[in-house]
Amino acid sequence: MAATRVVVDIPGERPYDVRIGEGILADLGTKLAPVLEAQPPSRILIITDSNVAPLYLDACKQGLAALGCPISDITLPAGEEAKCIDVLAEVWNAMAALGLARDSVVVALGGGVVGDLAGFAGATFMRGLRVVQVPTTLLSMVDSSVGGKTGINLEAGKNLVGSFLQPSYVCASTDVLATLDVREWACGCAEIAKASVIDSDDFFFWLVENASLLAERNPDVVLEAIARSVVFKANVVAQDKTESRGVRECLNYGHTLGHAIEALAGYGTYSHGAAVAEGMRFAARLGQTLAGTPLELVEAQDALLDELGLPVLDWSAPAEDILAAMKRDKKNRQGAVRFVLPADVGQWELTAVDDETILEHLRLYFGE
Ligand code: GLY
Repeated sequence: MAATRVVVDIPGERPYDVRIGEGILADLGTKLAPVLEAQPPSRILIITDSNVAPLYLDACKQGLAALGCPISDITLPAGEEAKCIDVLAEVWNAMAALGLARDSVVVALGGGVVGDLAGFAGATFMRGLRVVQVPTTLLSMVDSSVGGKTGINLEAGKNLVGSFLQPSYVCASTDVLATLDVREWACGCAEIAKASVIDSDDFFFWLVENASLLAERNPDVVLEAIARSVVFKANVVAQDKTESRGVRECLNYGHTLGHAIEALAGYGTYSHGAAVAEGMRFAARLGQTLAGTPLELVEAQDALLDELGLPVLDWSAPAEDILAAMKRDKKNRQGAVRFVLPADVGQWELTAVDDETILEHLRLYFGE
């Protein structure tokens, strides 16, 4: 069984493993035992959702059985709407009713919504339990399960309440990806493409070479793409755990326009990754004016995204509306819209861009 391990070593935190491989859910308990050894759990709580539970909850319980402690589970409604204060309050109350104690462990079994909400429930219940992430989507394997961001949405915006809690362990069992549909697969591929452009020539050109195999879900390429993305993210988070040192922001490449598209088109109209891919295309073109991004990069990135099943979106909106949506994004500082611009592969800049320049480039890009 092919498996690999990436160690996430963040200053001030206990290092933790991200294990990636086919079928590794089966020995999750065996691998976790030494991680939890200092304080063996009196109970494990699996938090999952109504899509994932029928597919993988039993397998997860079986995998954890080696720990020899009682296992409870909570199934959330599937979908982004569950990432809210009412569902979180239900989870907190259920945790209390189940008698979870400081030594209990929360296992987040699902995609980004489950990981974020379960992570935040774990981070806050009794001032913090240990959390294990078991991501079940490509997107959550390469992004949200690693790095410790947890939280919920408010009506005023996404992810407005949350905390940083690094997981104790991450188990990315690639066989569970078999049930992902084409849209969800491409969604994860967008974040892999993002990581490759920001990271290095080595990652980017490896991905260009292997894009069609990744799109076809070749097992070796999938494993390597996840591992490379996790190594990239681990390095970024090790330098800037709380996104306060001007480094972690690089993970937002493509997200400035991407978030605006998601908000204006209506959440769920396009996958997060499809919107981010569009944002990458735009940011690279903006980079040509502001950061000297070479045309070769713009073209190579376009071809890569096409190959990964992320074509140009059949979407546009008035430039003023897009700019207004960008300004509502919580990632802005003092009203200035900031873009991660790829000066070249592996070289990025975080640039505050004035309204006129953004409007001019949006009009050009969307052909107004
Ligand atoms: N998904 C972006 C981050 O973890 O910072």
